[in-house]
Amino acid sequence: MKVLKSKSTFDYIQRFGAHPFDSLSNPPMKFQGSPNYVATQDLMLAVNAAITLKRPLLVKGEPGTGKTMLAEEVAQALEMPLLQWHIKSTTKAQQGLYEYDAVSRLRDSQLADVDGGERVKDIHNYIVRGVLWQAFTADQPVALLIDEIDKADIEFPNDLLREIDRMEFYVYETRELIKARHRPLVFITSNNEKELPDAFLRRCFFHYIKFPDADTMKQIVDVHFPGLKKELLTAAMKTFYDVRNLPGLKKKPSTSELLDWLKLLVAEDIPLEALQSKEDKVAVPPLVGALLKNDQDVSLFEKLVFMQRHNR
Ligand SMILES: Nc1ncnc2c1ncn2[C@@H]1O[C@H](COP(=O)(O)OP(=O)(O)O)[C@@H](O)[C@H]1O
Ligand SMILES: [Mg+2]
Repeated sequence: MKVLKSKSTFDYIQRFGAHPFDSLSNPPMKFQGSPNYVATQDLMLAVNAAITLKRPLLVKGEPGTGKTMLAEEVAQALEMPLLQWHIKSTTKAQQGLYEYDAVSRLRDSQLADVDGGERVKDIHNYIVRGVLWQAFTADQPVALLIDEIDKADIEFPNDLLREIDRMEFYVYETRELIKARHRPLVFITSNNEKELPDAFLRRCFFHYIKFPDADTMKQIVDVHFPGLKKELLTAAMKTFYDVRNLPGLKKKPSTSELLDWLKLLVAEDIPLEALQSKEDKVAVPPLVGALLKNDQDVSLFEKLVFMQRHNR
């Protein structure tokens, strides 16, 4: 696959007089992959569809398939600053808009000498702006990553519907309406731990990152380890897909695990023979801890090896 570098935003502004993401009347800027990130044709299409529709791109896929990195790479390729919001189980939608810091205000009111008491009088001083506020009021269009939305409770996506649709929200404490100066390019990722509400899905463009096939995986490895010995790569990839295809694994190793493992194989100078299974029998690969992350999976693998040896 061809990996092209995007046209610079500066050239674009010179030609069309506006940031490419701001206006649909001008030809919108397209994501064409990046030198650090292997994007398949359908992934690039999805990114560009979300740009055209001006809808958030919802990216699902197994952990480690490059969802977070996609947002970073698209932002970089389109020369947009990236604001990141990493969601936890306790994250509330309101935190992305703003929070009123009542505790600091109370403390300042007790310490009368802070600004002669002036600071306390103005409630604006105690409004802490969230990522959405920052994205809405930035000087230029930005990319906004809402990472792992499925970690939050079920209400979280619904609570953001209006803000994402209308690109505005109201600050009750100061009676201000915050409207987006530029519509941010929104990426939302999910590891599929929870279903997302239909009303939320309707507003997104959806893309599922399929687990890379062997060809794509070779390109990804090449980005990270250019010049890796071909024989080592072939043997390691075979072992990797063998492990991955083992039925009954609790957690299949993914791209990032393969990359970690290759790094170790190179660093430890593991000989090729250690990876090549004899007479087509599976063996426990060296440094298997980089691939399998729980004891049940490791013992499942060992059991298989044991059974194969005794069936000879
Ligand atoms: N398409 C890809 N091109 C290059 N590297 C990739 C790709 N997909 C995954 N990786 C590698 O795997 C790592 C994990 O990706 P990440 O974006 O954190 O996955 P996710 O967010 O889906 O869990 C990245 O840091 C990168 O090194
Ligand atoms: Mg991620």
